[in-house]
Amino acid sequence: MPREPSARESALATRTEHAPNASALTIIRNFLAEHSPGGIASLLAEQYLGALLRPLPGFEGLALRAGFYRLLFARLEGFPFIYPGARLDHCRGIRAGRSFAVHSGAFVSGRGGLTVGNGVLIGPNAVIVSTQHRYELVDRPICEQGHRLLPTTIGDDVWVGANAVILPGTRTASGTIVSAGAVVTQDTEPYSIVAGVPARMIGRRPQASTASEAE
Ligand SMILES: CC(C)(COP(=O)(O)OP(=O)(O)OC[C@H]1O[C@@H](n2cnc3c(N)ncnc32)[C@H](O)[C@@H]1OP(=O)(O)O)[C@@H](O)C(=O)NCCC(=O)NCCS
Repeated sequence: MPREPSARESALATRTEHAPNASALTIIRNFLAEHSPGGIASLLAEQYLGALLRPLPGFEGLALRAGFYRLLFARLEGFPFIYPGARLDHCRGIRAGRSFAVHSGAFVSGRGGLTVGNGVLIGPNAVIVSTQHRYELVDRPICEQGHRLLPTTIGDDVWVGANAVILPGTRTASGTIVSAGAVVTQDTEPYSIVAGVPARMIGRRPQASTASEAE
């Protein structure tokens, strides 16, 4: 005798039925509701012009991207080092301090609001995001439920290692080192070194006032 499906199983079955039929129109409608005309123009600029500038090598490439992103960011101080292949998304939501460096393959999104201090280094293939998909409803596919915008903050003098991920809504304190491959799920302590998934503090930076004293 087959048993009755549980409430959770029924919800999952409904979800599975709906997912392939996710309405492209709903997704487009959500997108238009979430963005102003100026925001859409900025997104198009970062996609089309960004794609042209992204691969350019050498100092010319750095200089052209610096000028371009200065126009798109909410705030960008000094000269940024945006290396070939770095992807910057929803730039209107990014405020960055001096000497912002983003290495090749990194993905940095300001959709939910991203504030970055001075002297921040983002390593190759790191991912920094400031939104979550909504997923509370099980009878609608996630792709139709819109986004939660979660302002995300990175302090001054932060080094984000290769392949690290900074999750939305977190505050990475000034001086933090995020080790290669770490996933930051919570706020970090100033001058801490964090590693792993989820990232945990594995040490502190030396308390010396200059590099030579630290050696
Ligand atoms: C975090 C980091 C700076 C630490 O370097 P370090 O001070 O030389 O530290 P060590 O290599 O002596 O490692 C110290 C401990 O942390 C652990 N550790 C180091 N890096 C780690 C990582 N990415 N994930 C998990 N654990 C790590 C080591 O295994 C070691 O543990 P143990 O004491 O139990 O043996 C470095 O490991 C790192 O991740 N650098 C990022 C490099 C990078 O992404 N470069 C791209 C250029 S932007």
